[in-house]
Amino acid sequence: IKKVPLFSQLNPDQLNALAQICTRRSYKGNTILFAEKESGSVFYMVLSGSVKIYTTGITGEEKILSICKAGESFGELSLIDGKPRSASAQTLEDCVLLTLTGPNFLELLRNHFDITIAIMQELSNRLRDTNQHVFDLTFLDARTRVIKSLITMANKHGLRSGNIITIKLVLNFDEISQLAGVQKTTLMQVIRDLEEKQILTISPSDFKLDLIKLR
Ligand code: CMP
Repeated sequence: IKKVPLFSQLNPDQLNALAQICTRRSYKGNTILFAEKESGSVFYMVLSGSVKIYTTGITGEEKILSICKAGESFGELSLIDGKPRSASAQTLEDCVLLTLTGPNFLELLRNHFDITIAIMQELSNRLRDTNQHVFDLTFLDARTRVIKSLITMANKHGLRSGNIITIKLVLNFDEISQLAGVQKTTLMQVIRDLEEKQILTISPSDFKLDLIKLR
């Protein structure tokens, strides 16, 4: 529980009290945790693995809004405003998650102003990311959006060694195109082009991006 950044300000007694009301659970990859429009009753924190947050179009196609990694949390909106889940959540790989019931989550916010501020900062970051994404969808062409998404993934999830960033592939190509907001055919064209220019190397488990050649 100490690993969760939201709780970094709590003292050992407070952490112990919190540990009593949190539930720790392992989930297999590709488990749907909840679906958009369901009523929400639980707050989730990721201890290991990653979870995709996505919305579904009328013909069933998905749009990924965000990927939550270890230390990040989700599922707070419906607990705060009492409305249905604003998006769906599914594990991308085996995960260990910590959960808090809605009443316990709200009680925690009432009692610990630091945690309330941390949640507000998280919500502010998400609004900024969403504004940026609206900008990208409105003003950037599809190729630039793909390259931007690859760079964002590299910065957020990559391991840098010299000029090369290695990004473990937890997303498949369908999911990367959903994240970038482009058709899969566009994604594949851009990837082929970057591979030909030796900017990008793809293996089954990861891809490597040459930052110097990319510029
Ligand atoms: P809730 O609406 O309870 O359930 C879905 C969760 O997905 C939501 O709470 C947020 O935690 C998260 N979420 C919704 N929209 C976004 C977004 N645009 N970016 C990141 N996370 C989101």
